[in-house]
Amino acid sequence: MSNNMMDDLEKILFSEEELANRIKELGEAITKDYAGKEILMIGVLRGAVIFMADLARSINLPVAIDFMAVSSYGASTSSSGVVRILKDLDEDVENKHVLIVEDIIDSGLTLNYLMDNLWSRKPASIKICTLLNKPDRRKADVPIAYNGFTIPDYFVVGYGLDFAEKYRNFPFIGVLKPEAYEK
Ligand code: IMP
Ligand code: MG
Repeated sequence: MSNNMMDDLEKILFSEEELANRIKELGEAITKDYAGKEILMIGVLRGAVIFMADLARSINLPVAIDFMAVSSYGASTSSSGVVRILKDLDEDVENKHVLIVEDIIDSGLTLNYLMDNLWSRKPASIKICTLLNKPDRRKADVPIAYNGFTIPDYFVVGYGLDFAEKYRNFPFIGVLKPEAYEK
């Protein structure tokens, strides 16, 4: 890719091919575990959108999709710890098998809140599928059923993940240079 956005990257962490291979494996595991059931995938906007689109297509079962938006980091790279629902689900989750799809779990505060919130709506089950798990700064324990990759405490962008709404359209995951935060 000849693109000056590339200059903001320290390195590429997962190539397009590595992502595709791992997502295929996750889809196979989910297809096996949910055999005979229907899945309601709930994507956490906006970072999970690209992962969710590929994950849904790797699952060979009926999959419905819905989205929630919660307050995020904004233009800062560390969590405020404040979680707010900015957009709620369009569908009822009662008696459904909910699979929450997230781009990355860092402090765990977002998903810890979402899990509690969704359980109160009486779904049949809730599991979490995250593309990336960054456990070093975990503050709230979250049960991760499906994890693409565990990574060190890097700030990563691409494949849906952003810094100040930039870089989401990289087809790979890269590590942002610290200088890029300061620009
Ligand atoms: P948590 O509540 O700290 O687990 O927040 C997770 C959310 O923070 C993710 O859904 C991302 O939107 C954002 N986030 C955390 N780490 C990164 C990162 O390295 N790059 C981009 N976004 C991140
Ligand atoms: Mg997110």
